[in-house]
Amino acid sequence: MPQAIAGFSKLSKDAKIEWVSKTFTQDKPEIKALLKQYWLEDQSLQQLHDEFIENTLSNFFLPLGVAPNFLINEQLYAIPMAIEESSVVAAAAKAAKFWLDRGGFKTEVLGTEKIGQVHFFYDGDTEKLQHFFEKLEPILRKDCAALTDNMEKRGGGISKIELRDKNSDLQHYYQIHAVFETANAMGANFINSCLEQFAKSLQREAAQSSLLAGSSIEVVMSILSNYVPQCVVKATVSCPVAELEGIEGASGEEFAKKMIQAVQIAKAEPHRAVTHNKGIMNGIDAVVIATGNDFRAVEAGVHAYAAKDGMYSSLTHASLQDGIFSFWIEVPLALGTVGGLTNLHPLVKWSLEVLQRPSAKQLMEIVAVAGLAQNFAALHALVTSGIQKGHMKMHLMNILNQLGATPSEKEQLIQEFKQQTATHSNVVQAFEKLRAASTK
Ligand code: MEV
Repeated sequence: MPQAIAGFSKLSKDAKIEWVSKTFTQDKPEIKALLKQYWLEDQSLQQLHDEFIENTLSNFFLPLGVAPNFLINEQLYAIPMAIEESSVVAAAAKAAKFWLDRGGFKTEVLGTEKIGQVHFFYDGDTEKLQHFFEKLEPILRKDCAALTDNMEKRGGGISKIELRDKNSDLQHYYQIHAVFETANAMGANFINSCLEQFAKSLQREAAQSSLLAGSSIEVVMSILSNYVPQCVVKATVSCPVAELEGIEGASGEEFAKKMIQAVQIAKAEPHRAVTHNKGIMNGIDAVVIATGNDFRAVEAGVHAYAAKDGMYSSLTHASLQDGIFSFWIEVPLALGTVGGLTNLHPLVKWSLEVLQRPSAKQLMEIVAVAGLAQNFAALHALVTSGIQKGHMKMHLMNILNQLGATPSEKEQLIQEFKQQTATHSNVVQAFEKLRAASTK
């Protein structure tokens, strides 16, 4: 069994690589070389990446692409997407083009409230705590002034601070539950700093309060919540059903009906809902990553939202009314376009530039559109030709790369598979046949 190591983070990068290599990969030079192959030539750029996290050994690249032709609120966008899944950008571009000719995407930000909580236990009388809190609330605001002044200048701040009695969930459990507006910042640091100040003020004031004498307050933690059901954006596409005519030979009504049924199934059945929403997250995460936002926070919040009515369900909706087919998404997205990685990562800066330097609200709209487009493309394929046709086309290149096909072999095999479905085994067969013929 390998030996644990003390002080690893203090070793130089080379020494760290040596240790990992000797301890876990039998010091194989070809494995060690892989890491260095992905170092950036530009030293200062590499240093920037090294300093994003602790113990950086190399860089882990994801493809960064754009899906063009997104018409959103009458404005044309090319949406940057960072993702490894082969069909995602192609699907986004296809859906964008489809809706470009049918009026494009319309969006609306329904709210931008973010939440943070100080979780504490209190063993005294609830009414006394409520009286104490009435006096505490303005003190909490005053003690945070140094933090909030700047945020208020940018249009944000603390909108509400309330005491929540959570005894029915857990004995003696209470919260300071606060609502924040964070303007164009995602706001995690601002919210967490305010909350930690709340906790200090709460403990200081409680220790001096005659109302709370004889009882104790124990703060457990202070942290923002990634569940943001009031930080929500809606994106919609709609068109007369006649404009859906002819998709894979179906009438407009038939296609619309199938799309609505697909959404109904995802609403009714969690197994399908999870996959349905996973497809939506293909689009959302790719833009969230490209724009330097926290995709784990977005994922956690989105899935909680999908279960907000007591059962995990679809994030998208569809209807056919008075001859108009509508397809829309409502999704919580706490995003920022200033601060964090947005000021640091050169490719994040590039992505935001391509998106015309959006505000946080505009970014919410763009990301929701990417999610909706992805779901439209997935359902479109699923209810017509099936998903494998498009998937395998994109997958073909991955298989050819795995097989080590040369550029000319790739070209020939791509031509060949225009005529037939590409499955893993028949691509391997065709590749082997081609290789054998050329080495004869
Ligand atoms: C694959 O990454 C995503 C899909 O499975 C989504 C869906 O089934 O709706 C195609």
